[in-house]
Amino acid sequence: LQQRRLILVSNRLPFQLLEKNGKVSLKESDGGLVSALKSFSEREEASNLFNEKWWVGSADFPQARWDKFTAKSKVKHAFEISPIFIDTKVYNKYYNGFCNATLWPLFHYFPSFVEYDENTFKAYEEVNRTFADKLAEMLRPGDILWIHDYQLFLLPQMVRERFPDATIGFFLHIPFPTFEIFRLLHRPWKEKIIRGLLGADLIGFHTNEYVQHFLKTVRMVLGFDHEFRVVNADNRLIKADLFPLGIDVQRFSTASNLPEVIEQKEQISKNFEGKKIIFSVDRLDYTKGVTHRLAGFERFLELHPEWREKVVFVMVVVPSRQIISKYNERRKLIEEQVGRINGKYSTLQWQPVLYRYSHLSFAELCALYQASDTGLITPLRDGMNLVAKEYVASRADQSGVLILSELAGAASEMGEAILVNPVDKEEVAQAILTSLNMSPADQKANMVQLQKRLLDYDVTHWVNDFLRQLDDTKQQQIAQQ
Ligand code: UDP
Ligand code: G6P
Repeated sequence: LQQRRLILVSNRLPFQLLEKNGKVSLKESDGGLVSALKSFSEREEASNLFNEKWWVGSADFPQARWDKFTAKSKVKHAFEISPIFIDTKVYNKYYNGFCNATLWPLFHYFPSFVEYDENTFKAYEEVNRTFADKLAEMLRPGDILWIHDYQLFLLPQMVRERFPDATIGFFLHIPFPTFEIFRLLHRPWKEKIIRGLLGADLIGFHTNEYVQHFLKTVRMVLGFDHEFRVVNADNRLIKADLFPLGIDVQRFSTASNLPEVIEQKEQISKNFEGKKIIFSVDRLDYTKGVTHRLAGFERFLELHPEWREKVVFVMVVVPSRQIISKYNERRKLIEEQVGRINGKYSTLQWQPVLYRYSHLSFAELCALYQASDTGLITPLRDGMNLVAKEYVASRADQSGVLILSELAGAASEMGEAILVNPVDKEEVAQAILTSLNMSPADQKANMVQLQKRLLDYDVTHWVNDFLRQLDDTKQQQIAQQ
């Protein structure tokens, strides 16, 4: 791999550019995809592996702001950034439409939320083509192109048409659903999506289940068969495999030594002295199960009055995709529910749910991971869920309990967590009780195992494993010719 260029491609760039009173500032982007790619790019191993690293993504800021920023800024990133400027109307149809009102709900098993609109699919094709045009200007022989996530399903094939020998990897950060769900897409969309993906040489998923769903879908939609996870598509070999995304374990495990983290953690412990802390953080998304989680917590308070005033649920919700109605509605539902629970159970000295709707800084996030007794992570569906892994990695003293939804991809690697069905409020309430009563020895025994597994396959292993298999697949294709 040495001396080659790595080109990461995703819809979301690692930062947004804000402008206030003529001054441009950076805001870090939220979400698991950016966390993972950014943490790898910043590690030393990445610089040793590649002499040049690029990150290509759509700009959600105007060209003029970017020019102003690059002219003035001395900030050196771990990668060169290449923003793509897309017409706002087209981008909105693509992003708020086909990406997040069609593909996102469908792939997370919310078929009744799916919007079917030919115009948004056209915008989706157009944006994918704009990405392909940009890459056509950049690509050089020997480059490794690594495309990420559902916003760019059509891109691998669009690049392949122009560069038949290109090395193209694709990784999906969300679940790949069963064929029974996937088939709900309109027929031409289905075919174009699968053909689009098969333009890659290697297609990665978080779990074996998603790989199997994908392979079956390829057979049902295009009739291409597979053997040992290799698809033979018109005499081109394409590999589909699992690469469970890891985190930068060291960054979280050593965060307990950072002065800002120590300070914030002390502040939290002082504010909630004598109380147990339950913590959750998610983007505002209906897939994250926040309203069901609140119902589980409420049921816990109802069944266990002895715990009232002795526990507080710190629930952070990070703003996301605010223009889409299903997201906006969810915010209202969450806030009403928090208000109702607090109205019902608060006393003069105590409020059961401490709700915050905002982005967290790294120090705040780490302080909360470390100060809490229980991490309550209960998505209704989640490709992986990095928050669960970050919570575990942050517990340097090996205390704490993770309650995790069995419907998160992470559950298949985190068997020592308390696994729950997120819609069953009785089960969630019981899990909360179990976590609060767990002995320090049991907490430690579980954490040791969980942390060991995280270290065995951290984000650097994930990248190396993927890129090595991408190279192997290319070799196999050459051998077959
Ligand atoms: N995170 C963030 N901003 C915040 C709080 C958390 O970007 O204000 C990060 C968090 O550290 C984690 C990611 O967002 O790395 C969430 O990833 P996850 O896989 O849990 O869910 P996603 O948001 O990608 O669906
Ligand atoms: C999930 C998706 C990512 C996305 C992130 C944040 O992790 O898999 O592709 O970047 O959510 O969502 P946003 O729409 O803000 O990019």
